[in-house]
Amino acid sequence: MPTATKRSSASRTTSARNCWRSTRNCRWRFEPAPARRCPCVPATIAGTTAAAATGIGMNRVAARLGIELHHVQFLRRPADHAPAVPLPGGVRLAEWGVDDTARICTDAHVHGQMRSEARMRARFTHGLRYLVLEHDGDVVAWCWVAAGVPRYIDELCRQVDMAPGQAWVRDAFVAPAQRGRRLLTAMLDAISTHLGGGIEYFSDVEASNQASLRAHLAAGFVACAAVRSAAGTHWRLRPVPPASLPSVDASRPTQRLLWLDARERERHRKLIA
Ligand SMILES: CC(C)(COP(=O)(O)OP(=O)(O)OC[C@H]1O[C@@H](n2cnc3c(N)ncnc32)[C@H](O)[C@@H]1OP(=O)(O)O)[C@@H](O)C(=O)NCCC(=O)NCCS
Repeated sequence: MPTATKRSSASRTTSARNCWRSTRNCRWRFEPAPARRCPCVPATIAGTTAAAATGIGMNRVAARLGIELHHVQFLRRPADHAPAVPLPGGVRLAEWGVDDTARICTDAHVHGQMRSEARMRARFTHGLRYLVLEHDGDVVAWCWVAAGVPRYIDELCRQVDMAPGQAWVRDAFVAPAQRGRRLLTAMLDAISTHLGGGIEYFSDVEASNQASLRAHLAAGFVACAAVRSAAGTHWRLRPVPPASLPSVDASRPTQRLLWLDARERERHRKLIA
């Protein structure tokens, strides 16, 4: 994208002046409990990512036992957040539909992400919308949004209600060659306008995904809860729903250890997407 210039080294130097280590090269990020934290990263998130790093070994052990461990940061961006980053010249936002499912999967596969067509179709059935940024016929970024429809968080077996004017962002992706240009911010700003403006966004990011956490912070999100959970085939160990999230569905919402009976497993299969 010729007009989408990468942030200049000058602006990087300015941010580096406020930060004694660039986060990408930050020596602290894999240390369990940094005594000093990079001031660019809020304490809540710095603690979360450091803890996530210590959990990597535990994840391996758990995986051998057939247990999935999750450590997720929830973030929200207020509805009155002013759009900050315009789309680069020549880039346009487009919304794709269920007929584009094959292409959605192909684009994902090109970048090493496995997506089944059945699951992508299920997302459309659940009311999720798929938005892409296109440049010269190429797709340079995409994401799903649950706008005004519930977001089912399969790791927690919980469905979070999204009211009109609220949207949950899922699977945001920027092509590797375009990263570091605040394209995620530009895409979310454009989607907010596309959806009628004044959208309150929610998102969930793996606590170890520093690039995504930084991209969300740059886009105006603030961390609202960090959640750990463990999942087996028929059970979930999860925290009570964070008060900072919109209301969750009524199916045993406050129960922490959940054994899924046949009916619940069926419901889970229907909602997962
Ligand atoms: C997360 C992602 C969507 C961010 O999009 P983006 O438009 O590049 O976001 P930004 O330009 O705001 O950059 C965010 C951070 O990415 C990192 N970054 C910058 N340039 C980068 C590059 N060339 N390659 C990789 N990461 C880079 C930096 O840490 C940057 O933060 P900083 O500028 O404050 O140091 C993108 O990195 C991506 O698609 N990652 C793979 C999929 C993924 O993890 N999706 C998120 C799921 S929740």
